[in-house]
Amino acid sequence: MPPDPADSPVETSFGAVSPFYDTLMAGVPYRFWSDYLGKLWKKHGTQPKSVLDLACGTGTMSRLLATRGFAVTGSDLSAGMLEVARRKTGDADLSIDFFQQDAAELDLGDLCFDAVICLFDSLNYILDPERVQSAFARVLAHLNPGGTFLFDVNTEYALAEGMFNQSCTRRDEALHYRWRSRYDPLTRLCTVHMRFEFDLGNGTEKQIFHEVHRQRAYSKEDLSVWLRAAGFADVTLYDAYSTDPPKKRSDRLFYLAVKPN
Ligand SMILES: C[S@@+](CC[C@H](N)C(=O)[O-])C[C@H]1O[C@@H](n2cnc3c(N)ncnc32)[C@H](O)[C@@H]1O
Repeated sequence: MPPDPADSPVETSFGAVSPFYDTLMAGVPYRFWSDYLGKLWKKHGTQPKSVLDLACGTGTMSRLLATRGFAVTGSDLSAGMLEVARRKTGDADLSIDFFQQDAAELDLGDLCFDAVICLFDSLNYILDPERVQSAFARVLAHLNPGGTFLFDVNTEYALAEGMFNQSCTRRDEALHYRWRSRYDPLTRLCTVHMRFEFDLGNGTEKQIFHEVHRQRAYSKEDLSVWLRAAGFADVTLYDAYSTDPPKKRSDRLFYLAVKPN
């Protein structure tokens, strides 16, 4: 879907879309997800008090966890996403520090946490396997002994099946979008061309913008080996939002890895 020359130039991921991200995610059950995190922590016998929300995006989960009494810190690569996150937590009068950092080079000084979370396939956005390994090492460095790293990824099955082929053209919605994806099994890269149209509310004008998102599919074997190589123990995988092991057709997997005491 090549961009219309009259449209704004194509941006890479999480730029122009940042102010609209929460509208796009309106149907996402963050509350249910936070319950799920609690369930997995409990299952693994841990009760974290401090949490780093890595690749926190617009900070919806950060905010939810903070309202539940966790001491939360957030970090993300995108300045636009963090701007929204800071505004939202300011409005809610919550104290959450947000840092703009690449997960692969995470450096929060001597800050350490009981738990690090990285949700909603953020890790798939790191396209270079060495940088994923580097992110694992940086997470380990910021965990307290016994601390847990909990993250989810889109599986190769999900990316190959075209889960990013989505559109919304409902008349009663101000934000319309059309996404088309292509998965290359050789490189394991999924490229998603996204076109957005936002109705500016005066009946005629629209803001049109594009983003290109790229995700890489990582195998269970690679991620598990890399977690252990980084120094994690007790790596457990779950079919998303359940406590079942991965299935052949799991579209999302959760990984829970523990930093040894
Ligand atoms: C799908 S969004 C998920 C955001 C949030 N975790 C949520 O659940 O709504 C992916 C996020 O990953 C961030 N991201 C992508 N690559 C990153 C990297 N190398 N380091 C840190 N954040 C990254 C993006 O900026 C974006 O906010």
